[in-house]
Amino acid sequence: MSKSRERKLVCNPGFPRGLARVIARASLDIMEIKVGYRIAVVGATGNVGREMLNILAERQFPTDEVVALASRKSQGTQVSYGDKTLKCKDLDRFDFTGFDIALFAIGSDATKIYAPKAAKAGCVVIDNSSLYRYDPEVPLIVPEVNPEAIVGYSKKNIIANPNCSTAQMVVALKPLHDRATIKRVVVSTYQSVSGAGKAGIDELWDQTKSIYNPTDDKPPRQFTKQIAFNVIPHIDAFMEDGTTKEEWKMVAETKKIIDTKIKVTATCVRVPVFVGHCEAINIETEEFLDEDEARDILRVSPGIMVVDKREDGGYVTPIECVGDFATFISRIRQDSTIDNGLNLWCVSDNLRKGAALNAVQIAELLGNRILKKG
Ligand SMILES: NC(=O)c1ccc[n+]([C@@H]2O[C@H](COP(=O)([O-])OP(=O)(O)OC[C@H]3O[C@@H](n4cnc5c(N)ncnc54)[C@H](OP(=O)(O)O)[C@@H]3O)[C@@H](O)[C@H]2O)c1
Repeated sequence: MSKSRERKLVCNPGFPRGLARVIARASLDIMEIKVGYRIAVVGATGNVGREMLNILAERQFPTDEVVALASRKSQGTQVSYGDKTLKCKDLDRFDFTGFDIALFAIGSDATKIYAPKAAKAGCVVIDNSSLYRYDPEVPLIVPEVNPEAIVGYSKKNIIANPNCSTAQMVVALKPLHDRATIKRVVVSTYQSVSGAGKAGIDELWDQTKSIYNPTDDKPPRQFTKQIAFNVIPHIDAFMEDGTTKEEWKMVAETKKIIDTKIKVTATCVRVPVFVGHCEAINIETEEFLDEDEARDILRVSPGIMVVDKREDGGYVTPIECVGDFATFISRIRQDSTIDNGLNLWCVSDNLRKGAALNAVQIAELLGNRILKKG
C-alpha cells in the first residue's frame, strides 16, 4: 500500500481509525521486511557456488530469498546457506522473473544457454565463467580496482568476474600503478587444484592416496600429467604462440581492468595444493618506487593484507589464506637488475577473492550504487 493511500484511509472520517492504523502498520511492516534482494546462486553444488552461499551469509548480504540452482541430477541436493539448508532446484526449469541478481558459477557452455535467459528476465547476471569477460559490452570488475565500470552493466544486464589468478594480481598491482605507473609485469603462478573444479580436488586426493597403494592406480584425467607430488606448467588450452589460455587471460584481463598499456607476460603452473593460488610477481614501473614506500602503499590499500617479515615464516603460504577475504602480499623487495623494479609474492583463496567473494562484492556494489533496494 502506498503512503498516500494510507494517509487517505487515516484521514477519511468514515473509515474506522483503529482499523486504518492496523492497515497502515501492516503495510509499513511489509515495507520493512521487503528490503532485501532475491538472489539465485547458479552452480550451487560446485566449489565456487558453495563459497558464494557461505559468503552471502557471512557478509549478511540483505536477501529476501536465496535459491540454489544446479543441474537436474542435483535436484534436491542440500547445500548450506548460513545456518539454513537449501534444496537445489533444476536450473533448466527455473524462471528468473522477479529475481534481482543471479550469481553464476557454471562452465561457459551452460552459461551461454542460461545467462541470457536470466538477463532477459530482468535479473542481473554476475558471471564467473570466461564467456563474457572480453565482451566490450560487459564490464569486467574487481571492486577494489575498477568499481566505476559497474555503470556498463545495463547493456546486457551481465557483469563478468575475472579469472582467479587475475583477480588477486590486479588487487596488488592497482595501488602501485596509481603511484608509479606500471610498464611491465612478469608473473609466475602456483595454482591450486580447486581452480579446476570439484573434479580437480578429487583427482589430487585420490592420486595422493594411490601413491601409497600401488594396486590402486589413478591415472591423470582432469590434469594432463600426475598432479600428486608434481607440478604441471600447463593450465587450459595451448594457443598458437605457445602460451596457454590461462596465461592469455591474465594478460587480456589485466589490460581490461587496469590499463591497456600495461604489458604482462605469465607462466601459469598447477601445483598439488587444494586451495589457494600464489603468484611471484615482478613489476617494472615508469617512476622509481622504493620497496618501503611500496609496502606502505599496499598496507593501506583495499582488500590487501601485508605480511612481510624478513625472517623464517614471515610470509604467507596458501594454507594460511584459506577461508580469508584478503589478498596477502609478502616478500616485497627491490629488483636490482632494472632501474625501477619490484618483486612480490601474492597469495589468495582462489575460491574466494578469485571467484565467490569477488562476485558477492560486485553484487554489493550493484546494490549500493544502482539497485539501491536496501
Ligand atoms: N574454481 C575457481 O577457482 C574458479 C575461479 C574463477 C572462476 N571459476 C569458474 O566458475 C565456474 C564454476 O567453477 P567451479 O570450480 O565451482 O566448478 P565445479 O566445482 O565443477 O562446479 C560446477 C557447477 O556447475 C553446475 N553445472 C555444470 N553444468 C551445468 C548445467 N548444464 N546446468 C546446471 N548446472 C550445471 C554443477 O552442477 P552439478 O553438481 O549438478 O553438476 C556445479 O554446481 C567455472 O566457469 C569456472 O571456470 C572458477
